[in-house]
Amino acid sequence: MEAPTIERDLTTAPDAVAPGDDFLPLNGTDYVEFYVGNAKQAAHFYASAFGFQIAGYKGPETGYRGAASYLLQQGKIRFVMTTPMGPEGPIAEHIAQHGDGVKDLALWVDDATSAFEETTRRGGIPIREPETLEDEHGRIVISAIGTYGDTIHSFVERSAYNGLFMPGFVAYDKPYWKPEPVGLKYVDHCVGNVALGDMDKYVDYYADVMGFKNIVSFTDDDISTEYTALMSKVMANGNERIKFPINEPAESKKKSQIDEYLDFYRGAGVQHVAMETDDILLTVNKLRDRGVDFLYVPTTYYDDLQARVGQIDEPVEELARLGILVDRDPDGYLLQIFTKPVEDRPTVFYEIIQRKGARSFGVGNFQSLFEAIEREQEARGNL
Ligand code: FE2
Repeated sequence: MEAPTIERDLTTAPDAVAPGDDFLPLNGTDYVEFYVGNAKQAAHFYASAFGFQIAGYKGPETGYRGAASYLLQQGKIRFVMTTPMGPEGPIAEHIAQHGDGVKDLALWVDDATSAFEETTRRGGIPIREPETLEDEHGRIVISAIGTYGDTIHSFVERSAYNGLFMPGFVAYDKPYWKPEPVGLKYVDHCVGNVALGDMDKYVDYYADVMGFKNIVSFTDDDISTEYTALMSKVMANGNERIKFPINEPAESKKKSQIDEYLDFYRGAGVQHVAMETDDILLTVNKLRDRGVDFLYVPTTYYDDLQARVGQIDEPVEELARLGILVDRDPDGYLLQIFTKPVEDRPTVFYEIIQRKGARSFGVGNFQSLFEAIEREQEARGNL
């Protein structure tokens, strides 16, 4: 597999940024855009299975001939499903290469022009020069830089806009596509998988170009089974609203889950998006009812759960029935569960997370989690 490369002109990179000088203030995740083979059906899946509302649409009927996009919303989470109208062009090429996958982890900023200038000045890969989009509801300024693989970060400035989402989108109000939400509130973190040896390159990229800091690292001592090992570093912006863990495979006896992803995605890309709920029992019950498949956790995981994590509010039998994992850190505890991949290629999946004080990522669950993933990998013949 071809390793993605970052072209950076280090001769123009400024000296290290002084701590506290946040040259890229981020308000939060603006949207996550997926390029998919059939956006109408993908939108239906996220509505019926995950409880998103299909809020907006942009396509040939609204004057955009090349592609169709559906806006999905739940809580503060916005997903956009985009599909091309033919085999030509970058969207179709992205799908041919990667299958359905995340193209854009878009970030909400106050100044998209400054975001572009400050990041590209520091070596960010320029993707989209600042551009103003206008309609009767105001204007949005949008720009973008690249990151691992073909993934990008758009910077979205929307303070002068009071429309639905973005110029070009119209309200989508088909009553039969308004399912009950499942309680998903906002994006907690988005994880990228990169090739062996590339993790530190992207850690440096987020640090140098976007001013992120490395808040936690996991080595293959933390995360390894008999066959699989991986390394991970979590990068976060100044206010920690944006957290991007970066994984790379580590040397191991057999093909790791990260290698499997990289083979099927044909390179680096988004592995999972974690979405926060304030009632994980309710959310996971509803998701299961609607046909979302989760990783199976052996019941032995729950035998000594309370000894490991101490007192928790949730009944252990209920957690065991649903397969929800628990981990504690110095600030509190968290509950989490992982879906199986949501497409036929074993690539993108979701994490549902509820934080009760904890600010970490569930390192205590990594072992049982990766054993669970390996069972799935073996069933696919990819271990
Ligand atoms: Fe995660």
